[in-house]
Amino acid sequence: MDKIIVIDYGSQYNELIVRRLRDLNVESYLCPSTFSYEDALKINDLKGIILSGGFDSVSSSSLSFNKDLLKLNVPILGICYGMELLSHFLNGQINKAKNSEYGRSLINVDNSSPIFKNLPSSFNAWMSHSDSVTFDNNEDIKIIATNKNKEVVGFSYKNSIYGLLFHPEVNNTDFSKEIFLNFIDICGAKRDFIMDNFVETKIKEIREEVKDKKVILGLSGGVDSAVCALLLHKAIGDNLIPVFIDHGLNRKYEKEELEERFVKKLHLNVVIKDFSQVFLERLNGVTDPETKRKIIGKTFIDCFKKVADEYKDIDFLAQGTLYTDIVESGKGGISKVIKSHHNVGGLPKDLNFKLIEPLKTLYKDQVREVGKILGLDKEFLYRQPFPGPGLGIRIIGEITKEKLDILREADYILRSEVKNNHLTNDIWQYFCVLTNLKSVGVMGDNRTYCYALAIRCVTSIDGMTADFYKMDYDILGKIANRIVNEVKGINRVLYDVTSKPPSTIEYE
Ligand code: XMP
Repeated sequence: MDKIIVIDYGSQYNELIVRRLRDLNVESYLCPSTFSYEDALKINDLKGIILSGGFDSVSSSSLSFNKDLLKLNVPILGICYGMELLSHFLNGQINKAKNSEYGRSLINVDNSSPIFKNLPSSFNAWMSHSDSVTFDNNEDIKIIATNKNKEVVGFSYKNSIYGLLFHPEVNNTDFSKEIFLNFIDICGAKRDFIMDNFVETKIKEIREEVKDKKVILGLSGGVDSAVCALLLHKAIGDNLIPVFIDHGLNRKYEKEELEERFVKKLHLNVVIKDFSQVFLERLNGVTDPETKRKIIGKTFIDCFKKVADEYKDIDFLAQGTLYTDIVESGKGGISKVIKSHHNVGGLPKDLNFKLIEPLKTLYKDQVREVGKILGLDKEFLYRQPFPGPGLGIRIIGEITKEKLDILREADYILRSEVKNNHLTNDIWQYFCVLTNLKSVGVMGDNRTYCYALAIRCVTSIDGMTADFYKMDYDILGKIANRIVNEVKGINRVLYDVTSKPPSTIEYE
């Protein structure tokens, strides 16, 4: 698939450039500012380069343009700081602008230039700069956009290098999509980044890389590892060893659903290993949330290693790492952070396997699309997030088998009622938490002294912030009623009405 890469000079809008290109079906990702000619040669079908904006001024920044990249003979578009870098390289002068420009501003453009093809001669563009650019006479350089003060906000050089001082990637710029489409045309890039092609290409790449070797993968029950497993299974069949470590901290029917979906329907040879006793023993008496998390993480790794040791001829470890995992684990472009993140998903760094991460260039919605192509059902693909440490961080205080069973039953009732009342699309995450508060109640003629259970339902976009879900009182009442009647050990139900921040979504 043809690619246009984005070199990262630190602008807050960088991910938007990548997203714009992908939405127009061109494969793209961020590369660090140290990206070299040799790095570029390793990328198949590289059709164009975009230099991003940045927070610095060219005169004071150490981030520069690697002019060897010109030897690639692919079109280059510099945006804001990226334009300044190109201007500097082409002997333009960068000065402090008399008037810095921030926000929407009317610009005039030369719409005979390919980058402004089919656009009107003036429109609004999003500015965020404090420098200005001037060029001495240079017949190869054309000024193709100016602002209301007649200052240069766009130039082209020999119809293969373009600079725009404004941000075409931002929605506030008119004709944002058209400008990117024009650049894609200039690059001659095929818009073939569609998920069917992605699946086909990846399968081919995986086969070439893995050959007849074996690959182990931790199937967590989440979407990413599931899609990764299916892609590998399609490529190498039963040379994939998907391992499900049952830590005993899962929701009711989790293991059964996994078997039904992956083993019976999708024919994966999942190795299911029950380590719940090991987890319970190691968590015995532990109450501190961070210690619990550490124990669960470490025990998971130990158990995974144990299973891996049973197979003698494994060469690769596959992980469902996503593009956002990479970006979040360290800004600065895809190639720079690839090495530092490979315990994303909680797997060990020191397993002596080569790492294979076929989804690492995809966003979550694209992973779901791939999952759909590979036969995963919608209910699974759009399920609510579930944390790696499972119910272990939803039991306040010590974790016991008895508490896990109580929580599992209550949580199952909540999930069933959310589904029955068609609320799954309205609530981003919904679950129960077993508090360590016991209180007095009365059932029949008897006094009870049981746990209070908290229900947490939130709306959110990405889990970074959240608000509590305003659930209908009748539905809430019914859920509470069912829980206290059907689950032995709970005599009180509380509804959490805090947002994040100041609370978090999970309790531990
Ligand atoms: P918090 O509690 O930080 O949760 O507001 C935000 C989102 O992250 C999920 N979460 C986790 N997911 N491993 C995960 O895979 C974890 O250790 C973990 N902790 C929290 C949480 O469920 C929510 O969606």
